[in-house]
Amino acid sequence: MRSEKALADLLDFTGKTALIIGGSSGIGNGIAHAFTERGALVHVTGTRASASEYTPQEGSDLSGLTYHHLDVMDRKSADALAADLGGVDTLVLSQGTVRYGRAEFAQEGWDDVVQVNLNSVMDCARAFHDGLRERQGTIIVVSSVAAFKSTLGTPAYAASKAGAASLVKTLGEAWARDQIRVNGIAPGLVPTKLTAVTTDNDERREASIKSIPMRRMGTPEDMAGVALFLASPLSAYVTGQTVIADGGLTLS
Ligand SMILES: NC(=O)c1ccc[n+]([C@@H]2O[C@H](COP(=O)([O-])OP(=O)(O)OC[C@H]3O[C@@H](n4cnc5c(N)ncnc54)[C@H](OP(=O)(O)O)[C@@H]3O)[C@@H](O)[C@H]2O)c1
Repeated sequence: MRSEKALADLLDFTGKTALIIGGSSGIGNGIAHAFTERGALVHVTGTRASASEYTPQEGSDLSGLTYHHLDVMDRKSADALAADLGGVDTLVLSQGTVRYGRAEFAQEGWDDVVQVNLNSVMDCARAFHDGLRERQGTIIVVSSVAAFKSTLGTPAYAASKAGAASLVKTLGEAWARDQIRVNGIAPGLVPTKLTAVTTDNDERREASIKSIPMRRMGTPEDMAGVALFLASPLSAYVTGQTVIADGGLTLS
């Protein structure tokens, strides 16, 4: 049995560097703070020009984090960031988008969502691969429970998240020889600006909560707990896996 102290040491990231793509708000922001609280130097990215353009009301707290502008619609942006930052120990890919109102059935909406939720996951993983290999680092891909089911109005969201969960398996296998572990988190419902259309509406929120066996929405901190485990030596023998963190939503 490990002592409390030994466990705390395994979750101590002092001297490590983490980069959270999509760490400007929501789940990525919660994960970023969990790493700083445990000693890591943490870089985050967002689409706006500077950190001052984010507000706490949107689920953004950029204190103690180093902010970088990054828009993954530009296929070369991840390479430029990797050249700027050099190596990192943990790369969390929490960027994500969705288009409501049936926009994902049209080509433009489909392409935008697949670019952000799937293509850019590979772009970022590729860009940081060499630095991660040097440090024997870890990649954590935030996909979704939508990877494993239909999402009626948002076909690109579900397909891109299924692609991201699949990519975790292949990169997990391919890069094991480089000592890079690649894992994922599939969140259920977490109130963020991405899900405000549901979570800010009383009726929709209550209906959603009723469908969750644990009878509550998840929090960025819930997701951060899984991320810390996946980035730490506690999961040293785990690769290619996506952990579902959904309060039981997908159990039946
Ligand atoms: N919330 C949930 O219930 C839920 C459930 C399952 C999965 N997820 C996934 O969790 C991840 C985080 O989402 P969230 O819920 O925390 O929403 P969020 O607060 O909107 O965060 C999304 C992040 O992605 C960034 N992003 C969006 N488009 C981008 C682009 N073109 N280039 C670079 N970055 C971009 C956003 O930047 P800006 O802040 O500048 O917009 C933000 O940092 C996503 O992958 C999402 O699909 C969320």
